[in-house]
Amino acid sequence: MYDKLLTCLKSVRAKTDFQPEAGLILGSGLGDYADSVRMEAVVEYADIDGFPVSTVKGHKGRFVFGYVKDVPVVIMQGRVHYYEGYAMSDVVLPTRLMGMLGAKKLLLTNAAGGVNRNFRPGDFMMITDHIAAGVPNPLIGRNCEELGERFPDMSEVYSVRLREVIREAAGECGIALREGVYVQFTGPSYETPAEIRMCQAIGGDAVGMSTACEAIAARHMGLEVCGISCITNMAAGMSGEKLSHREVQEIADRVSGQFKKLVTEIVVRM
Ligand code: HPA
Repeated sequence: MYDKLLTCLKSVRAKTDFQPEAGLILGSGLGDYADSVRMEAVVEYADIDGFPVSTVKGHKGRFVFGYVKDVPVVIMQGRVHYYEGYAMSDVVLPTRLMGMLGAKKLLLTNAAGGVNRNFRPGDFMMITDHIAAGVPNPLIGRNCEELGERFPDMSEVYSVRLREVIREAAGECGIALREGVYVQFTGPSYETPAEIRMCQAIGGDAVGMSTACEAIAARHMGLEVCGISCITNMAAGMSGEKLSHREVQEIADRVSGQFKKLVTEIVVRM
């Protein structure tokens, strides 16, 4: 696994020597955020030796290196999902690669279903913690000592400092920020109403198919992590409506302007 990472790193470094301070993973609704940064270099996933390439429609696959205002960032435009069939170690490989490229902080974004009854589609939720019991842990397998320790602490996955930064950024944008716990399932089917009732019972506020595994891999290697969910729908059984990818994308697109503004305000402060 570490050898594969080194191969990917070499492949990227053959194309750019850009030194990012922060990493960004773009979820639904933010796909074109990278177009608004001052781009210095682009590296297509397909051009990185050994890199897992995303198959989801509407998900681009490339790293964008550039500046958000004056902050040097590496942006993952399109992530890799476990439901695509990759090993969990491949799902988090891009996250680890961003760390190896020099990013010290990581902002994770996603689209998620609202589990908390007070949430509404179009809301933004700052992730305060996660429950990743629905997916295999990305650290399973021989521990890579070069990256981090065998049994890393996860009592503060989402940095308290960065949470304050996000609250300030949301205030600046006039966004009524929600806060809560993100629950990750594998997908690709949406959850059943019974699974959503379980999420409520165990303390979840939003549900999705990414992010928590990336946060674990990032914390393992000591990155400072934060995350935002765009609530695109009420989770299964909560609204009487069926779920569809189209609806998720429509809502994500509708609030993408606000989402992009929020991300910029976070990045300049983080
Ligand atoms: N469930 C899982 N993933 C999601 C959802 C959902 O309701 N909405 C957007 N991503």
